[in-house]
Amino acid sequence: MPDGQAFYITTPIYYVNGKPHIGHAYTTVAADTIARFMRLDGRQVFFLTGTDEHGQKVEKSAEAAGLSPIEFCDQISRNFRSLTEAFDISNDDFIRTTEPRHITACQALWTELVKRDQIYLDAYRGWYAVRDEAFYADSEVSEPDENGKRFGPHGVPVEWVEEPSYFFRLSAWGDRLLELYEQHPDFVGPESRRNEVASFVRSGLKDLSVSRTSFSWGVKVPGDPKHIMYVWLDALTNYLTAVGYPDIESASFQTFWPPALHVMGKDIVRFHAVYWPAFLMAAGIPLPKAVFAHGWWTSDAQKISKSIGNVIDPIELISTYGLDQTRYFLLREVSFGQDGDFSHLAMTNRINADLANNFGNLAQRVLSQVAKNLQGRAPGIVSPTEEDETLLTAARALLPAVRDAMERWELHHYLAQIWDVLGAGNRYIVTQEPWKLQKTDPARMETVLAVLIEVLRIAGILVQPVMPRAAAALLDQLAIPEDARSFAAINAAGPIAAGTLLPPPQGLFPRIDKA
Ligand code: MSP
Repeated sequence: MPDGQAFYITTPIYYVNGKPHIGHAYTTVAADTIARFMRLDGRQVFFLTGTDEHGQKVEKSAEAAGLSPIEFCDQISRNFRSLTEAFDISNDDFIRTTEPRHITACQALWTELVKRDQIYLDAYRGWYAVRDEAFYADSEVSEPDENGKRFGPHGVPVEWVEEPSYFFRLSAWGDRLLELYEQHPDFVGPESRRNEVASFVRSGLKDLSVSRTSFSWGVKVPGDPKHIMYVWLDALTNYLTAVGYPDIESASFQTFWPPALHVMGKDIVRFHAVYWPAFLMAAGIPLPKAVFAHGWWTSDAQKISKSIGNVIDPIELISTYGLDQTRYFLLREVSFGQDGDFSHLAMTNRINADLANNFGNLAQRVLSQVAKNLQGRAPGIVSPTEEDETLLTAARALLPAVRDAMERWELHHYLAQIWDVLGAGNRYIVTQEPWKLQKTDPARMETVLAVLIEVLRIAGILVQPVMPRAAAALLDQLAIPEDARSFAAINAAGPIAAGTLLPPPQGLFPRIDKA
């Protein structure tokens, strides 16, 4: 991987209509892990998150809360910012769509689209779902229920809208989009989403209504301020704003555009993989390299919803289980891209099995023996046996293996491979019994412990993207200096020098008692 190559990664910007829940934390933690991975792997990263603050839904929610829209946005946006802090998110910027820099970018993009004859004035007659902020075709809307209500494909009520509206010539871009999916199969992942998006495009695209006149909370259309830009056109533009658009000569735009990856949930893949590339192509702006949609979390096998009362508060999770434990669970429990189910039992089991009994236990056993039997001095590897070599080879093969997993955004697989080696380390310590060797063959004991320290060093460096605090605590206990914690240092710095004094060991992951 070329050194220092730029890597621009984004989360969706979150609607400010409620408290952050596990789904928001999930998207952000996944993107954070990828951002941290790329930094440790020598890339120059720009990681963006933020809040999506315009639209009819926000205007309605503010009114219901008795606040002006901006007061309401300030309040809720703060909750999302606190979530990023509580989850140790390493974002480089936090964008709010109510900021002047963003209004400028939206209006500039609009003007560019008008200049290229991609937008025209007409009237919209059709269905709109405020909760999804989406327009739906007749074919996507249900028959009226007993109260005469109709619903969109995500079960959200739709209303009939008739108003003057500007339209974007989306219908002209179908073939180009299909070509894009075909020529760049990695543009949309996972594959199931690519198929879904391609079949939506193949079924025929209609021009997209991109302005509304029935409310006022949003970005005004340049030259026709009765019209408010469609909130998705506004929201998607945030990715351009944050790197300096419309100043395309700026250092940030030149360095980071186009994005390497947009991460999001499967519910909003259509906006990112159809509308967004169409807007960009129409404006003559280079396309992002990839869009990846993760699955949805259910809670105890039920859909998460306020009315069922099973909403999981991410802040409560980290205070109950710990931050790194929560981050680990979210990324390890489900295959990235698939749906997953949250339960306290699954979380307790996973933390106890993988963190307390496997990783934590191995570190504790090795480091306490070094403290007790070697006065805290790191041992060296002398005349390694075949078993030693097998374990060391497996640990050294991890870096290329996890890079490979990361190229396909397989976060679960990335962790599983590290845990395979930790499991092998645990089996090795049981067969080698260094605690017995102390009396019978102390030199051999030193080699066994040194092999395991090398396994812990490599694992400690590689888990940093997922568990930044626990990894730092382990690397501290191994006396590894800050500048020897990058991925390049795995090979460049090599094993810890024999004789290095290690600080007194401390437990990393307490066991969780079952409720
Ligand atoms: N504002 C838009 C995004 C605009 S991006 C230009 C939006 N916001 S959202 O707050 O509703 O959702 C943000 C993210 O949270 C989405 O990626 C969505 O998939 C994710 N989740 C919301 N509920 C979720 C679960 N139950 N499980 C996993 N993720 C889910 O959409």
